[in-house]
Amino acid sequence: MYDPVSDLVYLAVGNGSPWNYKYRSEGIGNNLFLGSIVAVKPETGEYVWHFQATTMDQWDYTSVQQVMTLDVPINGEMRHVVVQAPKNGFFYMLDAKTGEFLAGKNYVYENWASGLDPLTGRPIYKPEGLWTLNGNFWYGIPGPLGAHNFMSMAYSPKTHLIYLPAHQIPFGYQNQVGGFKAHPDAWNLGLDMTKTGLPDSAEARSAYLKDLKGELLAWDPVKMETVWKIDHKGPWNGGVLATGGDLLFQGLANGEFHAYDATNGADLYKFDAQSGIIAPPITYSVNGKQYVAVEVGWGGIYPISMGAMGRTSGWTVNHSYVAVFSLDGTAKLPAMNELGFLPVKPPAEYDTKEAAKGYFQYQTYCQTCHGDNGEGSGVLPDLRWSGAIRHEDAFYNVVGRGALTAYGMDRFDTSMKPEEIESIRQYLIKRANESYQREVDARKNDQGVPLTPVVGIPPQ
Ligand code: HEC
Repeated sequence: MYDPVSDLVYLAVGNGSPWNYKYRSEGIGNNLFLGSIVAVKPETGEYVWHFQATTMDQWDYTSVQQVMTLDVPINGEMRHVVVQAPKNGFFYMLDAKTGEFLAGKNYVYENWASGLDPLTGRPIYKPEGLWTLNGNFWYGIPGPLGAHNFMSMAYSPKTHLIYLPAHQIPFGYQNQVGGFKAHPDAWNLGLDMTKTGLPDSAEARSAYLKDLKGELLAWDPVKMETVWKIDHKGPWNGGVLATGGDLLFQGLANGEFHAYDATNGADLYKFDAQSGIIAPPITYSVNGKQYVAVEVGWGGIYPISMGAMGRTSGWTVNHSYVAVFSLDGTAKLPAMNELGFLPVKPPAEYDTKEAAKGYFQYQTYCQTCHGDNGEGSGVLPDLRWSGAIRHEDAFYNVVGRGALTAYGMDRFDTSMKPEEIESIRQYLIKRANESYQREVDARKNDQGVPLTPVVGIPPQ
């Protein structure tokens, strides 16, 4: 981002790979400039200053979230500052010209640091949070999806508040068994991928789901405190727009588009957009008439990789379109399909031992796109209901030989043996049987009557 006042370009820097600090960096060093803001001169690219929010990163705490400049009073004096709410859960205020750390405070609950050094802004680590060094399992808050992700925050110079779309999505961190080993065609993080997500036991499920949160914070950047907040149903809601009329617009994971009062959060308007929304709204005027527009669409790493957890706010699928609003608008959306696709009754038989092996293969190679623990959440195909799992050859044609590579589905015969690919199929049939009835029950029409599931073609 370029700031004409300080005449600097601020680079917001991401993470390192693999995420595992011990495997990436032998567990030593701050790892400059990961998780940092770096200021450079626009003409030459010459380094001017940097501030590293997350030293020794091992949680995927990127600092790529939006960098904003503000003019705010500090100790009776107006200061031109840079503010940012990176993934790590702390809100930072720096001098825009020099990068001097002015203040920082956690804007959500977090469990990895007990605070920030008041002079340097460096995190004060809790030893148990340094999971790569102590070798223990770590239930991290925030997780790699951060307390704030790419969804833009907004500042109103009228209320002097920042409107921050925050969330809580915990994550299970654990060193990869036997040290770092790259699996070609997989996401190589140095993590034990079977520990990251959600097992299918009812207790584990409800405990974890309770920890998923989504909120819109009205944050005072000078006092460093939340003035009020709106609790949403779950995480991964859209970016925020603040207008001169003291309105806030935000789309939500459950497909609702809202206008709130920027002074107190009162809910003033709601529109059912029929698809989760993650993008930020914009406003513009044409011939004196003001419009608000938002790109509707559900996606990103939360629904893609988190599976069942991606549905915390309700059942949604992705419909991509642009919705435009004006005060006198009368357009209506066509009626929605009744809850999209339905589960297909899975084949009854599978090999339990093979299915157990398939869990590791699935989490290592497939989870990132098709969802944790074999469940999709509305963006890419949910493999439990795929016709391809009904037959070994059909499955191998897609997964091994790459029948769908033109559509973004990679081929895996370069990284797995046929029997390993078959173990994934066994695992998916097992997961389909375990979750079929729950998924059928979850899909009800407007009157609460369960929709009729499709009875699958018998496996050959
Ligand atoms: C990089 C993302 C990505 C990864 C990783 C991935 N897939 Fe896919 N997969 C896709 C996409 C995208 C499609 C949809 C292609 C289309 O539109 O036809 C797909 C489709 C499929 C289908 C067809 C589903 C249907 O009935 O239409 C199967 C089966 C499948 N994937 C299995 C797997 C398995 C098994 C793995 C792990 C070995 C895997 N995929 C890993 C992206 C991915």
